[in-house]
Amino acid sequence: MLKVKINGNEYIGEKGQTILDIAKSNGVEIPTLCHHEKVKPYGGCGLCVVEIKGFGKLARACATEAADGMDINTVSDRVVQARKIALEFLLSDHVGDCRPPCMLACPANTDCQGYVGLIANGMYKESGDLINERLPMPASIGRVCPHPCETACRRGALDEPVAIAWLKRFVGDVNLANKQVDFKSKATIGTGKRVAVIGGGPAGLSCAYFLRMNGYAVTIYEAMPELGGMLMYGIPEYRLPKEVLKKEIDMILSMGVQVKTNTKIGCDISLDDIKKEYDAVIVAIGAWKSSRMNIPGEDLHGVYGGIDFLRNVAMSDVQHESRDKIVSSLSIGKRVAVVGGGNTAMDACRTAVRVGASEVYTLYRRTREEMPADPVEVEEAMEEGVIFKFLSNPVEIIGEDNKVKRIKVQKMKLGEPDASGRRSPVPIEGAFEELEVDAVIIAIGQSIDIEGFESLQTTRKRTIIADENTFMTSMEGVFACGDVTNAGPDIAIAAIGEAQKAAYSVHKYLGGEIDHIFGNIKEYDFYSKREVTPEDIREIFKDREIEYRPDIDIIEADIRRKNFQEYVPIYTEEEAKREAMRCLECGCMDYFECKLIDYANKYGVAPERFAGDVHNRRKPSTHLHIVRDSDKCILCGLCVRLCEEVRGVTALGLVGRGFDTIVEPEMRKVLEETECDSCGLCVSACPTGALVEKQSLIKAVPLNEKYTVSTCGLCSKACSIKVATYGNHVVRVLPVSDARTADILCIKGRFMYVDVLSNDRLKSAYINDRECDVEKACEYIIEEIRKNTGKKVVFVSADYTNEQVDKVLLFAKAIGAEVVSGILRQHKFDDASAFAGVNEFGLRVKGIKALEDAANLKEEIENGDVEVLVSFGDKLEGINLDNVNFKAFMSLHMPKHEGVNVLLPDSSYFEIIGTFTKKSEDGTFEDREVNACIKPFGGISSSEILDNLCGKVCE
Ligand code: SF4
Ligand code: SF4
Ligand code: SF4
Ligand code: FES
Repeated sequence: MLKVKINGNEYIGEKGQTILDIAKSNGVEIPTLCHHEKVKPYGGCGLCVVEIKGFGKLARACATEAADGMDINTVSDRVVQARKIALEFLLSDHVGDCRPPCMLACPANTDCQGYVGLIANGMYKESGDLINERLPMPASIGRVCPHPCETACRRGALDEPVAIAWLKRFVGDVNLANKQVDFKSKATIGTGKRVAVIGGGPAGLSCAYFLRMNGYAVTIYEAMPELGGMLMYGIPEYRLPKEVLKKEIDMILSMGVQVKTNTKIGCDISLDDIKKEYDAVIVAIGAWKSSRMNIPGEDLHGVYGGIDFLRNVAMSDVQHESRDKIVSSLSIGKRVAVVGGGNTAMDACRTAVRVGASEVYTLYRRTREEMPADPVEVEEAMEEGVIFKFLSNPVEIIGEDNKVKRIKVQKMKLGEPDASGRRSPVPIEGAFEELEVDAVIIAIGQSIDIEGFESLQTTRKRTIIADENTFMTSMEGVFACGDVTNAGPDIAIAAIGEAQKAAYSVHKYLGGEIDHIFGNIKEYDFYSKREVTPEDIREIFKDREIEYRPDIDIIEADIRRKNFQEYVPIYTEEEAKREAMRCLECGCMDYFECKLIDYANKYGVAPERFAGDVHNRRKPSTHLHIVRDSDKCILCGLCVRLCEEVRGVTALGLVGRGFDTIVEPEMRKVLEETECDSCGLCVSACPTGALVEKQSLIKAVPLNEKYTVSTCGLCSKACSIKVATYGNHVVRVLPVSDARTADILCIKGRFMYVDVLSNDRLKSAYINDRECDVEKACEYIIEEIRKNTGKKVVFVSADYTNEQVDKVLLFAKAIGAEVVSGILRQHKFDDASAFAGVNEFGLRVKGIKALEDAANLKEEIENGDVEVLVSFGDKLEGINLDNVNFKAFMSLHMPKHEGVNVLLPDSSYFEIIGTFTKKSEDGTFEDREVNACIKPFGGISSSEILDNLCGKVCE
């Protein structure tokens, strides 16, 4: 026994224990990357360093034996600095993308790779839920977002970016249609605090959504008659049907959000009054004032701001009125000039066409290349007949009787690039043009209507000043986000991104954490990023087939220009899955488990200090279950050491020297050609994403999984397993670090579990091949059992839990049947070498015989001496059942036997609760727990069906 001091506290240890051992057993955290209990210390990563009083050098805790009286410091500045340097050094040649570029480009940090990947797997509900972590309106935003994610998408370097926005729209629509959106249950019970959100646009609605999730009572104050802000009044119906938007708003309101529409601050109620009534206020009023050009004639009748025009159209119920009537009621006449080159200008000119203007000009002072509008919008506006006049700058609007008559345009040419890199337009002296027009729509930008908020400090641009971290304004307890703040208007998703943070800030503020920088809700500040050029991408993915987005038939211009109907059809399921499969899976699959990224952020690394050559040695992985990426390897050596020292296999080795050292399969073979038996031990131990296991999914997705500790049901070893699930899907099966399994599962438990989850699972009951509900099928079984009075046999699978077996026994007894298990004869439970055999101990303990031990039973069945045969989970392969009068099977998959009268869906060990009896080496029996981690495939578990049957026969 020895005594040491760690960070001033005294601890007892044993002789031979390392400093790390003693620290760990006393809950003192010391970071490690190359350490594992099952192998000798390596001392490679340098992360576990600690300071020992009286020792000059820092010591590696994993490799330093503790001595009596040692005074150890694990958190001193020197220790922290050394760890930081060690991490920076490791990261300097660690090449990977913790998060995908699409996600990092999204102002709201929506996990594009994640939700796209989930769509590829057909996991729509899960995909929607993942989006909803950051954004509550995927169907609306998927339609209107200019998608910076797609601009960043690496697939663009191969052929075309993944259609991330359309996929978001697809999954948003599908989940709304299938009633898979449930925000109501996300709202938490009151904190007793009340927050007022001023403005019911995308930012305000998102604030309400995030605040309700945190238990605040929320009231939205909205100046307009309806919620939705710019999405409702500034985006034309043909791009975003109001019906879709309203459905998504209703979802948010279902969380118990109070709404006061037609309530303008400064007119109907003052900011001061609101502040008095609520614990916090968020101002998210957007930018509703159209910017002016400040040219003569701007105040004539027939001159509109872009947003004002769109709002008027949105409020005029255009779909239901004749186009001529609209033209006259909006007083825009037949010839319209729209000024501007952004998306609002495109919305305005295309809307003008739709409401019946016959000649619509778009005037833009630069060329098409410089237009900030989405190129698709420009293209489609042209198809719809909008006449684009580039290099045209309006200088005067000329009127008659105070009404617009003409617009005078200065012709321009492009000069030198300005600070933004765009070439500035320069007037061509004396070159003017006049266009005869009835209306002018100025869509050159928006500004803030600050009326009612004068008590808040503003910028020179008259936007509200909000702290960039906390989102608090100059008035304590009043926050602001979205277009109304600092730099002013931006895209909707940027406002939603700010709303997440502002809501989080309010949550922290009301929780009393006012001194913190509380607006940051990113998981990490540091992310490892792979710097790649388009050429690199083409080289890395040179074997990928060129494949473009699915062709979708948008409604032709001649038709769509006459109405406001949405003209881009939603992807079909097949198109959506195909499109989602195009994703290159840029983000690291290990992100949610990676120790390196965790420590990197904990220690605030700056790896650029060690910038220099980096490796680029990633090869495509061919192993069935393991994916290797040498570029992420930090040479901790754990995989090599564990494989050799624990498994006695030399599948992996460290090859080369110095900077060029690399982990390679032995003899530089491919891994599957080595002795590797797919135990997955190396994968579990790898502290980075250099080794990861393949998931059970069709398309791999980095997922923040949920873990359930359970017992493997595939053989009589009954190993402990950690089941990683996402939604209702088992994604991976991992070993549990207990003495029994020693971090190792066999290939079956670790990877072959997918067989029980395969797509051809039986999900419904059938009577004579006709699908029916389970209740009916159970009734039919009982009826037939009562009708057939001859010999009855019940089979039970050795995969069944003890509790299921008890129910089978009860059922068999009630119907007077003999109980046997066909599978027992196929496996030897005492075969310790191959993990063969099934969970047969439970059956043996309960006195159930194997078919081979039930004298003559097979013969009797085949001769037709058995009238009723009910099999619970036993496949009964190799027995001819043709002569059995009535056959009922409870089965995971469609049984191979012909003429089965009743089928009931079975559940796997992932779907039930119970115990497996396990025979220990000393001959004693032990019960191992099975914990359901997903819902039964058929919606009802086999245990419930057994209860139903037992209930019926015992009546
Ligand atoms: S292994 Fe870790 S640090 Fe490296 S890319 Fe993956 S998540 Fe990031
Ligand atoms: S290929 Fe996939 S993961 Fe990569 S940027 Fe595009 S959508 Fe994101
Ligand atoms: S691949 Fe092996 S050596 Fe490289 S980081 Fe993973 S466990 Fe360590
Ligand atoms: S050197 Fe101790 S954990 Fe790596």
